[in-house]
Amino acid sequence: MNVIWHDLECGGYVEDLPLWRELAAERGGPVLDIGAGTGRVALDLARAGHSVTAIDRDRQLLAELERRAVGLAIDAVLADARDFELSRRYALCVVPMQTIQLLGGRDGRLAFLRRAAAHLRPDGVLAIAISEMLELYEVLEGDLGPTPDICEIDGIVYSSHPTAVRAAGDAFVIERRREVTSARGERDVSRDEIRLDRLSLRQLQREATLVGLSSRGHALVPATEDYVGSTVVMLGA
Ligand SMILES: C[S@@+](CC[C@H](N)C(=O)[O-])C[C@H]1O[C@@H](n2cnc3c(N)ncnc32)[C@H](O)[C@@H]1O
Repeated sequence: MNVIWHDLECGGYVEDLPLWRELAAERGGPVLDIGAGTGRVALDLARAGHSVTAIDRDRQLLAELERRAVGLAIDAVLADARDFELSRRYALCVVPMQTIQLLGGRDGRLAFLRRAAAHLRPDGVLAIAISEMLELYEVLEGDLGPTPDICEIDGIVYSSHPTAVRAAGDAFVIERRREVTSARGERDVSRDEIRLDRLSLRQLQREATLVGLSSRGHALVPATEDYVGSTVVMLGA
C-alpha cells in the first residue's frame, strides 16, 4: 500500500529530472540518491548510464525500487539519511523533492549534512531541493480544491486528494484525503499528514558551512499545476 500511495503522490513528478540528469552528466558518477523512494530519480539516472546508490529508510519502497532496478547499476541501501556509512565516495549526491525538510529540523539536517559531506569526493557536489514557501490553503466542504491523483490497480481505485497546506510554527503541514474504493464499491477513507520543516536557501547554506561545505550556486525548478516549485541548493567541499 505504501508503494501505491508513494507512486500516486510522487511518481508523476518529472520537472526536476532534467536538472538531475544535467548534474550527473556534468559530474559523472557514482551518484548517491537520498530518500530514493521507489526510484523515480535513481532509475532515471541509472537508465542514463550512471552508477547509483539509492538510500531510503522505508523497507517497502526500497524493495520495490530493487524490483524495478533489475539490470541497472543501482545499489539499494536501507538506511537513515542522518546515520549512514557506505564504502564509496560520490561525485554527486542528490536530495530530491524536499526530503531534507523531512529530517526533523536543524539537528536532523546537520546530521545528514555531516554524513553527506563524508561521502563526497573532493570535487563532489551535494544538490538539495528545497521549497522555501508553500501556498497555504484549506479545501472547505463543497469546494473542489486541487485535482486528486487517481489510479486503478486490480479493480481497486486509489484516490489521493490534497485538502490543506497549513503553517504550523517552524513547519508546514500538508494534508491529504486518501480513498480506496473496492470493485464492489466499498470505500475506505483515511487522512495523511506530512510535516515539512521550514527551510530557506540562506539557512541551509549557513548550516552547510558548519560541516565544511560551501555554496556552489543554486538552480530553480519551476512550479507546475500539481507540484510546488523548488530551489536546488548546490554545495561542495
Ligand atoms: C518525498 S519522497 C521522495 C522520493 C524520491 N526521492 C522522489 O523524488 O520521488 C521522500 C522519501 O524520503 C524518505 N525518507 C524520509 N526520511 C528519511 C530518512 N530519515 N532517511 C532516509 N529516507 C528518508 C521517504 O521514505 C521517502 O521515500
